[in-house]
Amino acid sequence: MGLNARAPANNCTVKAKSCAAGATGGEHSGPNPANSMNLAVDYLGLRLQSPFVIGASPCCDNVTVARQLEEGGAGAVVMRSMFEEQLEPAPPRPVRREPSDPDDEVPGEYPDRADYQVSPDQYLRRIELLKRNLSIPVIASLNGHQPGAWVDYAMRVERAGADAIELNFYQVVTDPAVDAEQVEGEMLKVVGLVTDAVKIPVAVKLAPFHAALAQLAVALELEGAAGLVLFNRFYQPDVNVEELTVQPLLRLSDPQELLLRLRWLAILSPQVRLSLAASGGVYTATGAVKALLTGAHVVQLVSAVLKHGPKIVGTLTYGLEQWMREHGYECVADFRGRLNSRRSQDAGAFERANYIRTLQTWRV
Ligand SMILES: Cc1cc2nc3c(=O)[nH]c(=O)nc-3n(C[C@H](O)[C@H](O)[C@H](O)COP(=O)(O)O)c2cc1C
Repeated sequence: MGLNARAPANNCTVKAKSCAAGATGGEHSGPNPANSMNLAVDYLGLRLQSPFVIGASPCCDNVTVARQLEEGGAGAVVMRSMFEEQLEPAPPRPVRREPSDPDDEVPGEYPDRADYQVSPDQYLRRIELLKRNLSIPVIASLNGHQPGAWVDYAMRVERAGADAIELNFYQVVTDPAVDAEQVEGEMLKVVGLVTDAVKIPVAVKLAPFHAALAQLAVALELEGAAGLVLFNRFYQPDVNVEELTVQPLLRLSDPQELLLRLRWLAILSPQVRLSLAASGGVYTATGAVKALLTGAHVVQLVSAVLKHGPKIVGTLTYGLEQWMREHGYECVADFRGRLNSRRSQDAGAFERANYIRTLQTWRV
């Protein structure tokens, strides 16, 4: 990771202005409001009371839980995704490649419309409900990978009151006839269509597996994206060797997954102007501090909330404030990005040198 331990001289001076502007920071209702630091951050052009954002998930399906998350100190919430397959007239059905036992289940068949937990109309009503009950921003999540009905739906999401949209491009490209340029070209096209169609900010949730992620990040910014969420997690089915079946598996994240996010936050944050969110593996205040130091504007939480309940937001808020107090920081902008790769002349060479050095440390 292209980390640099010393901040550029003007970092705090420039950022101190937003520190002063962040009057909302003291208003959050974490566990120790009397001694609250200023945790206010700018994300997607929205002023948030805290860098802790509840990531896309069922966490906000229940408005009572959403309110507990807000009371714990969450700066914003991202709703679960609405899938493009729910919005298209006829969702594509996977076909069997070879005739086999007719009793065999076709792996990867889409759920029936009725099996999705939220219908497109219910989703819009849920945005309205969350907006009526929360004072923090509500971010809707649209999930797909090609141009289609979700562009129109983005406008309905905006009309329902969402403060921003997160576009999730979850896709595993398996067709050997499709090249990377086509995949990213479609992604840029959708982002352009959506950002043209709505006035609210649009963030893009990316996979870490693009060959030239830095170039893609800049291209997304040029297409109008206001932020990037790093990264999507890939849910990898397992194989049951007794029943000879493929089994879907949803495991909560592992704290180790944060390391990949830190690396890319450090690389991208000096190179883009758009907002950056860390998503994946944050369970502790220390994890959140690492993400902010490497350049995240916000830290998304999902697995930690699912595992420990809404109270985890208050715990992490308290831990972040403690760390800031111990290190003499009054606001997040004072230290955000201090350990990014800004001072590294060639972040790629730095990465490769680090890689070689790391491998050389092993002796048998
Ligand atoms: C139960 C569950 C449901 C999720 N649903 C969505 C979703 O609807 N849309 C989405 O973009 N990500 C979804 N995610 C992924 C999370 O937003 C997040 O990117 C991922 O869990 C990594 O963050 P974490 O380590 O804080 O869990 C879901 C994750 C979990 C565990």
